[in-house]
Amino acid sequence: MKPSSILSLLVLAAVLLVLFDRPATSPSPQILATEPAVATSTPLEPVPAQPSPDAALRNKALSAGLKPLPAGPGPVTGNALTPERIALGRQLFFEPRLSSSHLISCHTCHNLALGGDDNLPTSVGHGWQRGPRNAPTVYNAVYNTAQFWDGRAADLKAQAKGPIQAAVEMANAPEQAVATLRSMPEYVENFTSAFPDDQDPLSFDNLTKAIEAYEATLVTPNAPFDRWLQGEDDALNPLAKQGVARFVDKGCTACHNGVNVGGQAYFPFGLIRKPAERIRPPADKGRFAVTHTPSDEYVFRAAPLRNIALTAPYFHSGQVWSLEEAIAVMGSAQLGVDLTDADIAPIAAFLHSLTGVPPQIDYPMLPVEAATTPKPRL
Ligand code: HEC
Ligand code: HEC
Repeated sequence: MKPSSILSLLVLAAVLLVLFDRPATSPSPQILATEPAVATSTPLEPVPAQPSPDAALRNKALSAGLKPLPAGPGPVTGNALTPERIALGRQLFFEPRLSSSHLISCHTCHNLALGGDDNLPTSVGHGWQRGPRNAPTVYNAVYNTAQFWDGRAADLKAQAKGPIQAAVEMANAPEQAVATLRSMPEYVENFTSAFPDDQDPLSFDNLTKAIEAYEATLVTPNAPFDRWLQGEDDALNPLAKQGVARFVDKGCTACHNGVNVGGQAYFPFGLIRKPAERIRPPADKGRFAVTHTPSDEYVFRAAPLRNIALTAPYFHSGQVWSLEEAIAVMGSAQLGVDLTDADIAPIAAFLHSLTGVPPQIDYPMLPVEAATTPKPRL
């Protein structure tokens, strides 16, 4: 075993120790609540009921770092979420003329009607070329600590610069994209009202800021799991509740936690056992390509699991179509256990409860091209 793998193992062992060393429930609210009653010995103080099984499980989920998804736009930095900016960002998200072929928009691969991705193993872009990785969903991406499977873009505006220029995606140049938009008077107007304080409102940077503003609104709160976490006992069925317990007890929450149930930190894919080469192709070394640090070989961001039931196929390679199989792969690769159906079925039911309520998606009308608009290059 390489020293880097041993190090990763130690890191996980430490995480798991912390996780399992904790008492099963945090200090019982019952004890805290009864203490003052004993001290003042008020006879009429009602004795609080035993915490319900749901309350205890909820406590366990919250202490393991699972959090409800807030309603309303997600947090962005250095960008103002004005209605003008969001409306412009929506046009740009659906704008195929940002690609050199005038055929491919962000929405081609991040279809908001299909869970915010393309449901293909790996994406197909310019000239029918197949890219190397599976498209993650744009829903709730605003809550990821960094963007892409390997976290190489710090935030959504940095991310949006990538696909426009990627040869296998939209295959365009920033100047060409800006020239295309500039040729249409309506875009000039919309950029001016979205960036009223800028000398040069229609720039590549502002294009990506507007897209980020729109993406910040692509959040899916009120999933059954969120409603349950906020106190609605009946929002989850018994199998899904078992799944919450299994998800925490097996150690999944060591890596998949926070608002997005993942998307927060990086781990080797194959921390304990190497996944099959079909699922983890040897050529894609993940975060190693970003940091050039040997211990980052095959390291990927713990995938965010919200709406996971809508975004098959799974993993950065997109080679696993069934959620049950993906759970089994995780058990083996990340935890070194062979999960049985008795564990997998409840965990799958829990993951299904992470499907939230999408925002109302209004398909925008796009400005008509002018004589000076650059022609498509197929
Ligand atoms: C040809 C298909 C394709 C197009 C077009 C495309 N994307 Fe993507 N997108 C992908 C793939 C594939 C990835 C993952 C790439 C990687 O991790 O290396 C990705 C990643 C992302 C992510 C990161 C999500 C996460 O969880 O890390 C965001 C956000 C995103 N794209 C937004 C956009 C926007 C905005 C546009 C338009 C400007 C766009 N994409 C155009 C395929 C596409
Ligand atoms: C040591 C960290 C770690 C642990 C523990 C872990 N995961 Fe993961 N998980 C990851 C990483 C990293 C990925 C991304 C793998 C890749 O590159 O495709 C991932 C991906 C996934 C995916 C695929 C997501 C997608 O969009 O394709 C699912 C589903 C998943 N994990 C569920 C689980 C479940 C269920 C458990 C517990 C049985 C678990 N994970 C335990 C780190 C972990």
